[in-house]
Amino acid sequence: MVHKKIAIMTTGGDCSGLNTVIQRIVDACNLRKWDVVGIQDGTDGLYSTPAKTINLTNNAFQFASSHLAGSILANGHAGATNFESSARVGKLNAFNKRLQKSIKELNLDAMVLIGGNGSLSLAHLYNEIYNGVQLICIPKTMDLDIPLTDRTIGFDTAVQQLTSFANQLLLIARSHHRWFVIQTMGRACGSLALHAGVAVGADAILIPEVKFNIDNLVKHIKQSKRDYGIIMVSEAISIRGHSGKAADMISRALNTANIPNRTSFPEHIQRAGDTTANDRILAMGFADTALKAIENNETNVMTVLQDGEYKTVSLSDFFEAGRKVKDPNIVGIMTSNRYVEPDDVLLQIATDMGIYIGEKRK
Ligand code: F6P
Repeated sequence: MVHKKIAIMTTGGDCSGLNTVIQRIVDACNLRKWDVVGIQDGTDGLYSTPAKTINLTNNAFQFASSHLAGSILANGHAGATNFESSARVGKLNAFNKRLQKSIKELNLDAMVLIGGNGSLSLAHLYNEIYNGVQLICIPKTMDLDIPLTDRTIGFDTAVQQLTSFANQLLLIARSHHRWFVIQTMGRACGSLALHAGVAVGADAILIPEVKFNIDNLVKHIKQSKRDYGIIMVSEAISIRGHSGKAADMISRALNTANIPNRTSFPEHIQRAGDTTANDRILAMGFADTALKAIENNETNVMTVLQDGEYKTVSLSDFFEAGRKVKDPNIVGIMTSNRYVEPDDVLLQIATDMGIYIGEKRK
């Protein structure tokens, strides 16, 4: 077997499942007797001179904690040098060149980049950074907003965390005869709110992809057979003429209609928690697929799960497949995004089961 040296880097926001993927890639490298290093603090670590790395070969130090949230490699910090901060000060070219130089200095055969749609879009658009090494990407995000893959690392755990959280609130809601409006994360994608809302038995689920009518929401809540329950609201919903946080806007409308309620913001708890069995299995599937892609001399690819099959797709296919949206932090850059589709089976099931999900799919 040809000897290789590979690096692993986690970028963007963290999510539960990153440590499992890291550990499984290390396991797979150990099996092949390949060297493996971790880049610390994402692109900030790669930008440093010399690049901040940690030797992971034969390293079982994190085995016992490989199913806990966060990333043992870390993803960066508020003061980190990254694509966004470099673009802000007009030094994006110099930043990209430094990353390219670090990759050369590390003498790598392959880089496994575990990132979200921003990181993967940048990896595609600034591909020259990885010149000379095989670039294999693994999709991770609690938002499930990456095109071409049915699942991303961290989504299942986020749904579990949010469901458990909402379930606790349901008990409290019952004892005070009131409703809880829970604001979920997910950016512009409603997948997390939709899945957790269905899982907890919410009476209403509001997501950015579906237009809703506040009067009809109020009517629906008043007609329900209970005086307590959950209204799951995705952070990116909007109501014309209203401003403020999504949950606050809905809460105010309920107050006006004399429906007792409280808001709740689970925030980063959704990104924490022990990695679920499904995310662990996904992590192993992606690690195996990534290592095989390296052996097959593939490059500029992303691992995906499609209809139960693990495989790779090209980064350009990933980029073309999503809806392109301007990156809010880097002028001139578009990211490739996935949303809840109008024919999403869960949307139909929720509607059939009498959950208020709005009026019209956008
Ligand atoms: O993309 C992951 C995510 O958790 C989103 O769902 C959320 O809007 C955002 O990141 C929160 O970012 P931060 O951790 O910077 O507050």
